[in-house]
Amino acid sequence: MVEVLPSILSADFAHLADEVAAAERGGAKIIHVDVMDGHFVPNITLGPPVVKSLRKATKLTLDCHLMIENPDQFIPDFAEAGANWVSVHYEACRHLHRTLEHIREHGMEPAVVINPATRVNFLIDVLPMVHHVLVMSVNPGFGGQKFIPFALDKIRRLKELREEYRLNFHIEVDGGVDHETIASVVEAGADLLVAGNAVYGKGDGETGTRELTLAALTAAGQAREAKKPEAVGKAS
Ligand code: DX5
Ligand code: ZN
Repeated sequence: MVEVLPSILSADFAHLADEVAAAERGGAKIIHVDVMDGHFVPNITLGPPVVKSLRKATKLTLDCHLMIENPDQFIPDFAEAGANWVSVHYEACRHLHRTLEHIREHGMEPAVVINPATRVNFLIDVLPMVHHVLVMSVNPGFGGQKFIPFALDKIRRLKELREEYRLNFHIEVDGGVDHETIASVVEAGADLLVAGNAVYGKGDGETGTRELTLAALTAAGQAREAKKPEAVGKAS
């Protein structure tokens, strides 16, 4: 099952509760929350107090993507604020294994994120402990950037590793996912599809979520179809 995760980075920050409610009406079950500290990435967004307010405004799953230095320091605060999933960057964690354990100990689902320049193979030893791996398909920091196509190879590689080691983590993709690129990420094997600009860019998060979800589900249907032996027979 594929899911579109609206990223509130592209929403109106003065009306976050309304923006999340719009995404929910459009069918969203998970909201992607981008946390930036101005050090790990060249932008500043929000932190635990805003997550706490979002928690009061919605029952949807809050997927917090931490683009911050020293994420360990803030894990208790995100737990307290009501975050459900917390992802940390491989590039920001000196002791990634400990950090992932720390997130789980605080009752949240741990995930690891890799920047475009980081290889999937560095993650092999921690794959059994994560709820999902987040593949960045842009350099993190801003919404509305262009999709980097080699992210597709990383998604395929993660899918292979999941099969090889008989694991069941999800594969999330973030950055430049829109109506043009969504079919390719679904076909590569991603099931959690973050989208900011494509959902909120036109100022209507409900329609944005609904239309992009439809595109994702259509692509997933086609991806399944392509794998059926009879479909292969038909095509040849
Ligand atoms: C970028 C963030 C993304 C961002 C994606 O650093 O991690 O979640 O919102 O935005 P779009 O979908 O516009 O590329
Ligand atoms: Zn993100």
